[in-house]
Amino acid sequence: MWAPLLQVLLILGHVREALSACKSAELDFIVVEGDALLASLEDDVRSDLAKLGISVATRFLSKDDFNSNMTSGNFNLCFSETWGPPYDPHSFAAAWKSPDEAHFSALKGLQAPMTQDQLTTKVSDVLLEENLVQREQKWKEILTATHQQAIDLPFSGKRIPTVLSNRLAGYVAGQQQFDYPVHTLRTLSGSSTITVAPGAQTGLFDTVGRLDPHTYRPNEFFANNWVYEGLLTYGPGGVREPALAESWTVTDLSGGGQEYRFALKQNVKFHDGSDWNCTVAKLNFDHVLAKPLTTGDYHGWYDLPLQVSSWSCAGTYEFVLFTKDKYYPLLQELTYIRPLRMLSPAMFASGISTDPMTENSCHAGWGSITGNGETLTCAGVRGVSGTGPFKFVETLPNGDVRFDKHADYWRGEPQISQIIVKKYSGHAAVMAALLDGSLDAVMGAGVLEPADFNTIRTAHSSSFQVFLGPAIQNRVIIMNANKAPTDDLTLRKVIMHAVNKAAIIDKELFGMAEPVDALFPKNAPYCDVDLTPRWDYDFEKAQLLWCPAESAGENGDVTMTVLIVVVVVVVVAMGVVAFILFKVGKKQGARACTARIHLAAFMV
Ligand SMILES: *[C@@H]1O[C@H](CO)[C@@H](O)[C@H](O)[C@H]1NC(C)=O
Ligand SMILES: *[C@@H]1O[C@H](CO)[C@@H](O)[C@H](O)[C@H]1NC(C)=O
Repeated sequence: MWAPLLQVLLILGHVREALSACKSAELDFIVVEGDALLASLEDDVRSDLAKLGISVATRFLSKDDFNSNMTSGNFNLCFSETWGPPYDPHSFAAAWKSPDEAHFSALKGLQAPMTQDQLTTKVSDVLLEENLVQREQKWKEILTATHQQAIDLPFSGKRIPTVLSNRLAGYVAGQQQFDYPVHTLRTLSGSSTITVAPGAQTGLFDTVGRLDPHTYRPNEFFANNWVYEGLLTYGPGGVREPALAESWTVTDLSGGGQEYRFALKQNVKFHDGSDWNCTVAKLNFDHVLAKPLTTGDYHGWYDLPLQVSSWSCAGTYEFVLFTKDKYYPLLQELTYIRPLRMLSPAMFASGISTDPMTENSCHAGWGSITGNGETLTCAGVRGVSGTGPFKFVETLPNGDVRFDKHADYWRGEPQISQIIVKKYSGHAAVMAALLDGSLDAVMGAGVLEPADFNTIRTAHSSSFQVFLGPAIQNRVIIMNANKAPTDDLTLRKVIMHAVNKAAIIDKELFGMAEPVDALFPKNAPYCDVDLTPRWDYDFEKAQLLWCPAESAGENGDVTMTVLIVVVVVVVVAMGVVAFILFKVGKKQGARACTARIHLAAFMV
């Protein structure tokens, strides 16, 4: 007679289970291998999500595999960063239309009224907005729409660390990631050669690459920035400062575009002794902005190449440039480290008269390029020569790289005579070199482990000066809205609230970052806006969205209590019925008894 009762209890058990369980999901998290910091963050994110029944299968991938998976949208979660100044938000957002960028595939899952197409249009549109109030409003719409669709889990604001030996002085903070201001440094004692471990695009320094100014990886921003200069430079507080252009005027034209007239600096010499003048400026523009290269695969990730319609010389030191529309980021984009910094005319394949179509300065490995109805051939460059404070000398057999000062540097001869960029096998080797005195400087992120940075700051402050810049870039976790299960907005919201970023940052980063709640840093132009909902850590909210019963809280418990009471009452009632039937059965014969009890049990 107990079998039916057990059956009832079993059913109730299932009900209880269904009510209390969180939904389940399995996520594919791609992380670049060999980055200890990312690995430690991944570990914490995974355990936070596990608390809600969301399992994370992480793939640690080589840089190449990571890039191919990222750009093809083959992931649910991946770490990314905004680009910081001078790129946020305009160039970063413009790059969302480029398939090379992780957001491109993630944003395909955007829902109306702000689909990916609409977003792309809105971003192009805001870049042409002249009216400042309108422009702020339009940026707010873009930021709000992407924020609400929960594509990016805002994680931490990245601060750039610098550690300098006490024998150095004259440190002036750089204005962007990879801007390491060596030309202001002075040595107070010892050799005027300094050793530097710079933060590279992959964290630890590996190679300076081709060190040509007009292309991309494996070139490193920091080295290109020492060697080459552009018309303008990006200064403190976001001010566009003169560099190879001394001054400029901007005039509105009747057709809707603008004329920019640059007075070029005179008496500037390239490392190889060539002069800087308008012929050289025009040559560089002719090559970089040759039509086939202005497409999305090459320089089309930002809008400057699409906006600049023509350029010419109005004198030996006067360069004139026309734009199609009133494109507000133009001067800012002329400060960028690539692809429009100036190469010596002697380094073009056939010198100052090199044809941009038959022997373009683009990397020879790019081959022949067709785009916008024209075809050109990349010939690469003959060598490394810019106007910047340091000139490239050689890569040594052990992988270290030597730079010498440019004695004719127009801002004044650097006091440091030589920089040896050191290549180390790992983070521990960098720490050891600092402590044994063989390394003078660590500049940039990803070189020292956060814990080692903390040790230097707290236990070795008498030997080193330590600087930590403001949070200029946001680390985010991109949630791919175009791939199941993160195509579910509810799941993306759950993840937003489930990750305890403040605790993770505290545990892993030792003050080298701070928690953030929006995609862009608040100090980026147009980004100091309050966006709702706030994507803060909120475990209860995550539960409410993902685990209906537990989040029902006391109501859930009440339901259970009622169910248990019902069971008890039924069991007691059946006992009573059985007892009565038993008594009756004694008189009428026991046969019918069990049958009736069976019936009663099934009716519950
Ligand atoms: C993605 O990563 C895997 C390794 O997990 C690799 O085999 C594959 O080539 C990568 N590329 C793409 C497009 O998925
Ligand atoms: C500009 O400088 C180049 C060398 O860099 C020189 O060949 C050329 O003659 C100069 N042009 C003018 C107009 O002075």
